[in-house]
Amino acid sequence: MKHDHAGIREWLAPLLVVLAGVLAASAAPAGAAAVELQSGSLRMQVSAIADDMLRVRITASGEFPEDASWVVPAEIRHASVPVQPWSGPDAVGFKTAVLSVRVERSTLRLIVSDLAGHEISADTPQRAIEAQGAGFVLRKQITPDQHFFGLGDKTGPLDRRGQAFVNWNTDSYGFQESTDPIYKSVPFFIATGGAGGSYGIFLDNTWRSGFDFGKQDADTLAIGAAGGPIDYYLIYGPQLKRVIERYTDLSGKAPLAPLWSLGFQQSRFSYMSADEVRALATRFRTERIPADAIWLDIDYQDRYRPFTTNQKTFPDLAALSAALRKQAFRLVAITDLHIANVAGQGYAPYDSGVAGDHFLKRPDGSLYVGSVWPGPAVFPDFTRAGTRAWWGNLFQSQLAAGIAGYWNDMNEPAIFNTPSKTMPLDTVHRIDEPGFAPRSATHAEIHNVYGMENSRATYEGLRRLAPDERAYVMTRASFAGGQRYAVTWTGDNSSSWNHLKLSVAMLLNLGMSGFGYSGADVGGYIGAPSAELLTRWIELGAFMPVFRDHYGKGDARKEPWVDGPRHTAIRRHFIEERYRLLPYVYAAADENAHNGAPLMRPVFYDFPEALSAPCGQDTTFMLGERLLVAPPPVLESPANYTICLPAGRWYDYWTGMDAATLPQAAGRAGEAGSAVTRLGFVLDATPGLDKLPVFVRGGAILPRQPLTQSTAETPDGPLSLDVYPGDDCRGEIYQDDGHSMAYTRGEYLRQSLRCEQRADGIAITFEERAGSFQPWWKQLRVTVHGWQGVATAQVQDHAVPVSVNAKAQSVSLLIDDQPHAAQLLIRRAASSH
Ligand code: GLC
Repeated sequence: MKHDHAGIREWLAPLLVVLAGVLAASAAPAGAAAVELQSGSLRMQVSAIADDMLRVRITASGEFPEDASWVVPAEIRHASVPVQPWSGPDAVGFKTAVLSVRVERSTLRLIVSDLAGHEISADTPQRAIEAQGAGFVLRKQITPDQHFFGLGDKTGPLDRRGQAFVNWNTDSYGFQESTDPIYKSVPFFIATGGAGGSYGIFLDNTWRSGFDFGKQDADTLAIGAAGGPIDYYLIYGPQLKRVIERYTDLSGKAPLAPLWSLGFQQSRFSYMSADEVRALATRFRTERIPADAIWLDIDYQDRYRPFTTNQKTFPDLAALSAALRKQAFRLVAITDLHIANVAGQGYAPYDSGVAGDHFLKRPDGSLYVGSVWPGPAVFPDFTRAGTRAWWGNLFQSQLAAGIAGYWNDMNEPAIFNTPSKTMPLDTVHRIDEPGFAPRSATHAEIHNVYGMENSRATYEGLRRLAPDERAYVMTRASFAGGQRYAVTWTGDNSSSWNHLKLSVAMLLNLGMSGFGYSGADVGGYIGAPSAELLTRWIELGAFMPVFRDHYGKGDARKEPWVDGPRHTAIRRHFIEERYRLLPYVYAAADENAHNGAPLMRPVFYDFPEALSAPCGQDTTFMLGERLLVAPPPVLESPANYTICLPAGRWYDYWTGMDAATLPQAAGRAGEAGSAVTRLGFVLDATPGLDKLPVFVRGGAILPRQPLTQSTAETPDGPLSLDVYPGDDCRGEIYQDDGHSMAYTRGEYLRQSLRCEQRADGIAITFEERAGSFQPWWKQLRVTVHGWQGVATAQVQDHAVPVSVNAKAQSVSLLIDDQPHAAQLLIRRAASSH
């Protein structure tokens, strides 16, 4: 369905009148505001919660509303750093160690600059703050060079400039490129490219909100909401990656995912019986297509009732799970939040939910009932800590049956047979939550956080029930900060080339919105992909964080083998490559847990100069900081195309050859004066569907492992370390047992590696390993690419034999594992002739 974005005022106007939040007044934050000003009916506080982060609160009603948040913990909201305040006749302000803040007395116009005076963000001179009734609009200036990213997986081009969006979690089966809103709301964006560097704004407001990035007025950024507090954070970079890191300091980090969840996963709506699931597992193994998880969609349940099992088709979940484990598979089960409204039938989730008063109510005090998969259903009030605890305990029997991961779907919440697709806005939540005043709240206030709190209840329940296992939850709806509890996917996409392209932009923006782990249904959920489309989708999916093939009821089959041996072979090859790359992917997951860096990111995340790259912007992406994936800009087209690589040395991932030796587009290579090297990558005359250009940045050490069919299998052989010489040459190894929490108690392995080019060769430095985890490998296979000539090598003082492959321009050697600080020297030897 196509939506035209109305101007921000148009959609807001009726809501301003209708929605009045029941917001308890409370005191100002504990951390003193650096600036507090009053102008007319407006009061404004600006606090420096860190040198590079401001919190801005504005009220039109004299009193600030309750200071509570589903996203930002109190200790961060109330933090303050020392500032240098100043006061003038027209304005007041302060300086932190990096920011200069100015607020005009008469208008409350806020201008934030760096200490050198470059403007980072400035309110518009007129109508910067409009607050009337329950809603508000804020306006800020945007400059022509600025680009906008974030806002979760909203559709459309990667750059949000010139677009406007509404945040309202919506079940969007069959969404298309211009559909808005969709499943998630992440009221956080990043502006980058301006003179003052990158900054981000997080609007801590759960109501229906809207962001206009210069659509209505090209020079104006408008931010509004239909109710709730004017409470936002301005996060300074100046680098884009720093903004994302700091945003995840504010909204939380994703926990390290279990290793199996980074393998290939197969799902459909639905595999209909335990026998079908077993046959599927066996087929993967006989086809020799690596895979780790099979997903059970709603048909494993009895009459679509969450937490039940269809006794005819899935008579023994525990036996199925055990049988699958023997084949090195894990089971993930869907558990939607709608509880069948069936009194007196012995359905425990309903009976215990009613007994504990856990369900949402109508304003008249009766239970709210809406129709979803099980028919009439009731809905837990996840704003109650006690309800979340009750919900979490419902997972006990599935956990005991050996289910390894959980899938929270339909949690916008989706309601069938109603034009709004969700529950009435006056449905009553009874907030009972540490940090919040106990109070009732309308669904209008809670709607956008409902899905996140559902996934939180699941996550926290699993952590409690199985404290030594990592909890794996996937959610469809979420809000800012939802990455703390669950990974996500982009919902019911379509089997079209356009959707494959769209998935790249959606996942990149999710990554820049704190969701480092995300996926799109591989092959497309709705429809029938051509063989070529499914193949390309698997190729790209192999380099995306969540690699799950999933499709809808009644649709053409989309498992990797459905299109005959030629396509199966290509798909197998790419899935195998994902498994070889897992040590690199897992190290990126470890990085994400520490600094929020998304696993999949745009090229300009690591190379800001690529922001203005003239080619391949919408489909090119990085996996971690070292791999650049460059599919054709028109994914279905067999035409040759040009790939932009940031300046510096690059290598072809597949052959290890220096990219400078690859065919260059005529007259394009290394244009003088350009920050970006335009490297023409010429595909075959009849371009192979079996090829996906991937490049490794020079200055990288990539860990890879021998092929396995599942992460449950121990790789047999050495760990490979591929060294791609170049500037700032580094690499990381991260390992642990892959599933338990032992890594939080020191049972991990983390090691940094460096390489340095020398006049006579290369030095590879192993730093001392941290952590006590013992790896599976005993030896390392080190291969240096871009090598010419014969070589000798030594580790510390011991000579090691090398083998040079002149054609591949590489030198390779096998050495013992190096857990301690050590150096490997490879020297160019005098040629024998
Ligand atoms: C929703 C989900 C889809 C799932 C279906 C049945 O449409 O988005 O992935 O297969 O419900 O549970």
